[in-house]
Amino acid sequence: MRTEDPQIIRLVDYRPPDFLIDRMSLDIKLDLKKTRAISRLSLRPNPAGRADVPLVLDGDELVLLGVKLDGEPLQECYSVTADGFTLAAPPRRNFELEIETELDPSANTKLMGLYRSGSAYCTQCEAEGFRRITYFLDRPDVLSIYTTRIEADRAEAPILLSNGNLVERGDVPQSNRHYAVWHDPFPKPCYLFALVGGDLGSLRDTFTTMSGRKVDLAIYVEHGNERRAAYAMDALKRAMRWDETAYKREYDLDVFNIVAVSDFNMGAMENKGLNIFNDRYVLALPETATDADYAGIERVIAHEYLHNWTGNRITCRDWFQLCLKEGLTVFRDQEFTSDQRSRALQRIADVRTLRAQQFSEDAGPLAHSVRPDTYREINNFYTATVYEKGAELVRMLKVLIGDDAFSRGIQLYFERCDGTAATVEDFLACFEASSGRDLQHFALWYEQAGTPSVTIAASYDQDAKTLSLELSQETPPTPGQPDKKPLVIPLAIGLIGESGTELPLKAEIDAFDGASAAELKRGLIELTSARRHIVFRDLGERVVISALRGFSAPVQLVQSASDEDLSLQCAFDPDPCVRWQAAQTYATRLLVAAARAPASGRNHSGIASFTEALRKAVSAGGDPAFTAQLLTLPSETDIAREIGDNVDPDAIYDGRQRLRADVGRALSTELLRLYRDLASDAPYSPDAASAGRRALRNTALDLLTSADEAAGTPLARAQFDTASNMTDRIAALTVLCLTESAAREDALEEFYKRYAGDALIIDKWLSLQATMPHPGTLDRVRGLMRTEQFSMANPNRVRALIGGFAANQRQFNAPDGSGYDFIGECVLLLDPKNPHVAVRLLSAFRTWRMMEPRRCRLAEAMLRRIQGVASLSPDVRDIVDRSLA
Ligand code: PHE
Ligand code: ZN
Repeated sequence: MRTEDPQIIRLVDYRPPDFLIDRMSLDIKLDLKKTRAISRLSLRPNPAGRADVPLVLDGDELVLLGVKLDGEPLQECYSVTADGFTLAAPPRRNFELEIETELDPSANTKLMGLYRSGSAYCTQCEAEGFRRITYFLDRPDVLSIYTTRIEADRAEAPILLSNGNLVERGDVPQSNRHYAVWHDPFPKPCYLFALVGGDLGSLRDTFTTMSGRKVDLAIYVEHGNERRAAYAMDALKRAMRWDETAYKREYDLDVFNIVAVSDFNMGAMENKGLNIFNDRYVLALPETATDADYAGIERVIAHEYLHNWTGNRITCRDWFQLCLKEGLTVFRDQEFTSDQRSRALQRIADVRTLRAQQFSEDAGPLAHSVRPDTYREINNFYTATVYEKGAELVRMLKVLIGDDAFSRGIQLYFERCDGTAATVEDFLACFEASSGRDLQHFALWYEQAGTPSVTIAASYDQDAKTLSLELSQETPPTPGQPDKKPLVIPLAIGLIGESGTELPLKAEIDAFDGASAAELKRGLIELTSARRHIVFRDLGERVVISALRGFSAPVQLVQSASDEDLSLQCAFDPDPCVRWQAAQTYATRLLVAAARAPASGRNHSGIASFTEALRKAVSAGGDPAFTAQLLTLPSETDIAREIGDNVDPDAIYDGRQRLRADVGRALSTELLRLYRDLASDAPYSPDAASAGRRALRNTALDLLTSADEAAGTPLARAQFDTASNMTDRIAALTVLCLTESAAREDALEEFYKRYAGDALIIDKWLSLQATMPHPGTLDRVRGLMRTEQFSMANPNRVRALIGGFAANQRQFNAPDGSGYDFIGECVLLLDPKNPHVAVRLLSAFRTWRMMEPRRCRLAEAMLRRIQGVASLSPDVRDIVDRSLA
């Protein structure tokens, strides 16, 4: 263990900045190895800050060339360290500081600050990358108006972009260089600064805002890829229109630019007026991208655009408030997709993601609250908890106060907080004002980590014709929070009679909680204390309770429902979330039992009635996309989390494979029929309905093959050969990859030959191979790492191949520890170059404590080995320390 205390940042220590920077003028001369940045900061003491203190600017790996104060070169009075610049006695009036730094974009492997991607220059500043460009007050509550002049070689970088509107461009006389000047009239924090220079192609369009202003839109891509940006452009225009109709929010600049780059740590970045994207969230053609890719593009394009109001116009006071922009913007992009596609399916997809990512995070050593109160490295808080659970809190708020008060509250937020750096308290205050409701108890959701479990014990009394519900909640302890308080939990419920009809809610509610007819009118029970007792009267028949409709709160529901109740719900519940959940719960029961006691024989009658419930649901028809969801069993990680400790991933895998085969066998007639009926020779369209039909057809193929490999393999092979789009081709290849056959190797080889050189497609090929459950996968991955298709320097390649392997539950958790060693070694190899990507891989260890003792010891040994390396980045150090704490 190291002895020095790493720097811990605390929310309670927040202080306003001592200085403000009203205007920022940047002059950047781009050069491969020697880029010059001259910045002019118009500073003044902050009336709300401390007087007579030095000015301390942040910096990171900068080379300082010179400083001027009000135009006069400064020789002394300042000092420079590895992480900052200090002016000992700054003037107590308005003053201008000019700072010149030199940067080497080609050597920037962290992809934070100014770096090279392909033949272009680009930037990434969130969270703390701006300080790698120049010395600055790199904190989100310092808002400045930026003017940026970019100069570059005309041939190398004909395109020069920055935030805001273009105000001037021209040639630099007597040289082969040119320049462009951009001005952004909206004050912004430096994390939203961006600049791009390069030789790029573009797809252009225009958008007329609701007040009639014309906005020029452009998506910049590598030459030759222009056609591949059409869907992204379409999604952008739909997102712009949607924000106008759903939130009355109009775009505010004359141009909106998007640049797609192939080297990017995350998905995309919402820089004001100049979003920079990982190209996987921009580029799509039917032959190159799957339905999931199209959906991802639509979602991320919308997400970044929607940040313009939730994130940019209103930003965060400090990084503890990250959920203020991210949770809210995820909520907004989910709503956008719900309106564009299917609300029910979107909700199910979001719940799946929440469970897989956020519930897992909550169940391990990295659990933290939606608004953490301390951090060592902010990069490590771009998590499922901040994003996905953050979105759930906004959704719950809407459920609690109702649509009307919610929309008045959000409008108030836009009015009140526009142009400011706000807090979660500022946000909630708007909804208190709009609803008249005290939200103090609700606010606990932001402070308290962990997934609450809600237990519903129902008992029906035939003579009294009553249904009595015992509701209780409990949140398990998480690191640093041993004792949890009860939360406000909105439980949307309904009652289903034996015949499958919905019954009216009439209740007598236990006196100590107070009766609330209003609650029941909305089909909503609010659980605010540890327990609550509710009795429903006048029920002439036995009823099934339909609980957590629409997944009304991010909780784990524990219900005593019998298998018959689950079958009934799966068939009849009017709420699609509950129907889907009933199937998942039923499957989970079988899968957990199979994994816990693999030797004790199979529950044949349970399996038969489960497959029968699915068969009924499939025969009933309905939305194919929904049926595909019903037929998709819980993932291996879902099952592991449910088991909770002493987990054996091989037993989970085997049990899941067998149940898949059971489903395939029991439903073979229906599945074959679906496979034939859903075939289509219509030209590909990425719309939700067509995608849903493909999803169900491909699910059918997958189940059929897992039941009967000999019958399924030729179908998959034929589909692979004749597919007219990437969705069907990759689905067929995925099915083949689960078989250990010559057909698999042939298809992989052909796929490779066909798409070599197309990096985004090769990523699919890499990750398919990395996720193969069979032994030998690790050797295959090591072999692929040595091919020219792979590069450790490219985050997408690393995520596809090594990240794919880290997600391979069986091989990552191989009982000999080889998977842990491999990922650990990759983390150590990557860390010095790109800590961001290293951390993403390391997070595969987040559930190590759940494993059975032998795997647990091996995982811990690897984590300790990483911890013992002296030169770790603060990012990896933070994660490894927390993982072992
Ligand atoms: N703010 C980005 C988003 O959610 C994510 C991001 C964070 C990108 C940090 C880069 C670096 O839209
Ligand atoms: Zn975001």
